[in-house]
Amino acid sequence: CGIVGYVGQRDGLDVVLSGLRRLEYRGYDSAGVALPSAGRIEWRKKAGKIANLEAAIEANPLPSGQVAIGHTRWATHGAPTDQNSHPHVADRVAIVHNGIIENHDQLREELPGVEFSSETDSEVAAHLLRRELDGGADLLAAMRTVVGRLEGAFTLVAVDAQDPERIVAARRNSPLVVGVGEGEYFLASDVAAFIAYTRDAVELGQDQIVELTRGGVSVTTFDGAPAETKEFHVDWDLEAAQKQGYDWYMRKEIFEQPRAVADTLLGRLNERGELILDEIRISPETLRRIDKIVIVACGTAFYAGLVAKYAIEHWTRIPCEVEVASEFRYRDPIIDPMTLVVTISQSGETADTLMAIRHAREQGAKVIAICNTNGATIPRESDAVIYTHAGPEIGVASTKGFTTQLVACYLLGLYLAQVRGMKYGDEIAALLRELERMPEAIQGMLDNQQQVLDLAREFVNEPSVLFLGRHVGYPVALEGALKLKELAYIHAEGFAAGELKHGPIALIREDLPVFVVVPPRGRDQLRDKVVSNIAEVRARGAKTIVLAEADDEEARAAAAVFIELPKLSTLLQPVAAIIPLQLFACELATVQGHDVDQPRNLAKSVTVE
Ligand code: G6P
Repeated sequence: CGIVGYVGQRDGLDVVLSGLRRLEYRGYDSAGVALPSAGRIEWRKKAGKIANLEAAIEANPLPSGQVAIGHTRWATHGAPTDQNSHPHVADRVAIVHNGIIENHDQLREELPGVEFSSETDSEVAAHLLRRELDGGADLLAAMRTVVGRLEGAFTLVAVDAQDPERIVAARRNSPLVVGVGEGEYFLASDVAAFIAYTRDAVELGQDQIVELTRGGVSVTTFDGAPAETKEFHVDWDLEAAQKQGYDWYMRKEIFEQPRAVADTLLGRLNERGELILDEIRISPETLRRIDKIVIVACGTAFYAGLVAKYAIEHWTRIPCEVEVASEFRYRDPIIDPMTLVVTISQSGETADTLMAIRHAREQGAKVIAICNTNGATIPRESDAVIYTHAGPEIGVASTKGFTTQLVACYLLGLYLAQVRGMKYGDEIAALLRELERMPEAIQGMLDNQQQVLDLAREFVNEPSVLFLGRHVGYPVALEGALKLKELAYIHAEGFAAGELKHGPIALIREDLPVFVVVPPRGRDQLRDKVVSNIAEVRARGAKTIVLAEADDEEARAAAAVFIELPKLSTLLQPVAAIIPLQLFACELATVQGHDVDQPRNLAKSVTVE
């Protein structure tokens, strides 16, 4: 979900609505706003996208005011209806909430006689606050008492109609940042909400309460003690968060990949040609003692992790496991102080991933985060971080997030090899040079987009598409299929090409589109095996779309459609090979008339487990 709050001299409703529009990618099941006015709470809320809310406000305007809060929802408890939308209002108080209040049932029982107007867990917080306020507490004291009662994850923002110049918010797990202007202050789940007004921000920590008035910001712990905060300056601006002439943020982000990858690589080498990481709080001695690596991540980031396993094991010879974060801590994983946990998260906020690293650190493991969001919770709670510097990713389906994560994973693998003094000195140098040519390789793929766009138009009515790959081409196949599921809502699956004959080959039928990622020719027979796999599906009538090096004539001969890949090392090939698959999914969904940036049921950062 996305949260916005404003205290200042501008029209509060305008600021909050523009912030919500920038946060819509975080959830778009419903939206709402509230503001204190003449001793009452005024609010509007509506199921569906923010446009519905705006229409509701136009039909039934709100009074003006300089203090306002707003919310855009990704439904957890309660269907996305008008009633279940936020804000939730209990007489003089209005709240918006992001997270899950796990003990809401029990808390409801403590509020006999209260009539609830929604099925949400959140509404209970509004009634608890009102009870405290009616008992004489001010909003800050009331918030302190109420958060003491809540279990789960929450960012809770409240306004009191009888104290209309103030916003009070509490943060546990779900993100919240404060934007600092001149005589005006902003609250949001993400700096994108206020980047049009200020680039100066304050990061709130876990279990902190913030109070905003026109006079300033004060931050305390849940117990009321003054809290330490960290100020930061956002290194991108409003323009970076706009579409700049593209039809979709996603398409813009696909085309930003050469620059994004270049920025991920920027400044990583010192004068001696050694790799450096952003913030290393793990000593080389500790990294030398590591005997196991566990990568945890979700969604697209998990697929980046699958690629990383191949690279890291090959370069460092340290055993490396990869696991979806939501499974990790519940299976009692074997980790100890000799384990290095690597977590990959574009947003740095994904709750499943956050919980996984907390569990890992409790067991004494060291955690390195690969993240695209400065100051997000996951990097803050990790021992070291490699920022991907891709700039804001707004399209819900990750693209530049993925390719920059891949590059960061390579850097990490090479860094570990360097620190541990692996014997591949020359190979490391050669790979670094190859990585520096990666933006150019991606640009080449983008320049050839027309072929892929035509293909997408041709396949617009296909009910099912398969993707095959081996080695690091396998995660590419999985990611290609995920993009299609997310955006075009069609059945798409990625398989390890060698595993095909053990079952999935039964799916092959006449004219079924099958994408195959062919590795470069190397010393082993990996590529030959994949070429045989293409023959197997072709023999059964499938339409093969083959991605391979331009001079791979055998692969070309086995292809119904041939997509040329640049010459790269096997381990680095995914960065280029994923580009046409991203373009394919984006275009197919566009032709089908879907909202590419905000696919149904999804949200960009999922801050609940
Ligand atoms: C959500 C998004 C996915 C994303 C995943 C992990 O499910 O819809 O596109 O890959 O979260 O997000 P993260 O921010 O942790 O990389």
